Amino acid sequence: MSILITGSGLIGAQTAKLFVDKGDKVILYDIAPRPADISEIVDTNKITIVRGDILDLPFLLSIIREQEVDTVVHTAALLPAALLQNLYAGLRINVEGFTNILEASRQMDVRRVVFTSTIGVYSRDGDGNTSETMDENFPVRPGSLYGMTKLMCESIGSNYFNKHGLDFVALRFANVLGPWNGPLFTATGPLFKEMIGKPLKGEEAKIEKPSPIVTNGEWLYSKDAARALLLAGKKEGLTERFFNIGMGRVYHISEMVEIVKDLIPGASISLGTLPIVPARAYNLDRSKRELDYSPEYDLKRALSGYVDWLRARAN
Ligand SMILES: NC(=O)c1ccc[n+]([C@@H]2O[C@H](COP(=O)([O-])OP(=O)(O)OC[C@H]3O[C@@H](n4cnc5c(N)ncnc54)[C@H](O)[C@@H]3O)[C@@H](O)[C@H]2O)c1
Repeated sequence: MSILITGSGLIGAQTAKLFVDKGDKVILYDIAPRPADISEIVDTNKITIVRGDILDLPFLLSIIREQEVDTVVHTAALLPAALLQNLYAGLRINVEGFTNILEASRQMDVRRVVFTSTIGVYSRDGDGNTSETMDENFPVRPGSLYGMTKLMCESIGSNYFNKHGLDFVALRFANVLGPWNGPLFTATGPLFKEMIGKPLKGEEAKIEKPSPIVTNGEWLYSKDAARALLLAGKKEGLTERFFNIGMGRVYHISEMVEIVKDLIPGASISLGTLPIVPARAYNLDRSKRELDYSPEYDLKRALSGYVDWLRARAN
């Protein structure tokens, strides 16, 4: 297969590795690729890195044609903090950029487009739904502009599927953590800098006001995110379009702190007053049934892998 992966960050680079391991041809397409950071995740001799903007439709078309792309995995986007800093550009990149991906894929008869959506499309209070877990039919009502851009992309993707028969699949990822040296524009970036980065340097960590999504939430290791994208890119005969991808349970930040203390002996981490944040875990039945996806990493295993990677980099 010839796979175009847009975005070569935390998730895109990891996904490139899994497709390469399967023997596929991989093109990583990014407006600002970071070859040194990418090479920590995947052998850059085995992939093609293309510097390009997803807002540039003619260039996208030429790359898909030249590289005979049959599957697109779309991860390029502005994440929450970057979107808020660059609102106008962010709306264009997330929504118009993805529309370009769909349009280029339609014109070039791409076999399938896999989109990276978010748990942030779901209503936080449930809008009257009282189930204990969230399946893919749980009410959607994003609480952020970022979540709204993702929900809009899901709708545009569905439209391309219904109107043009373009095979479109969206994975709704939980909060992702994992090895990556580039910038992180989610709430996890500052949290891990404090909670893990400081104890690794022997400094005291103080977590004063964690954001709701990290206080009590569903998580996902980047290697599981990449494996879900690989499965979604390759599986034939899918009958569903939307899939929850996470660990299948909610972790409170106090549990996370205990895990980090076990992983970094002597770590001193204090937690400020925590807001009460109700949260529901993901129901993963559909992803298991259709994609064969089950998480290989729970939070302890994920944090252990991440801390090991940080330690190895520091040496
Ligand atoms: N990280 C998470 O917690 C999380 C959770 C849910 C969903 N997602 C989604 O998964 C996807 C990947 O997330 P990530 O954590 O790897 O993000 P990331 O910020 O590490 O990577 C995104 C990449 O997109 C590139 N990009 C931005 N604008 C572009 C443009 N105009 N043209 C080409 N490339 C462009 C950036 O340079 C960057 O390398 C995103 O769509 C994100 O919304 C992430």
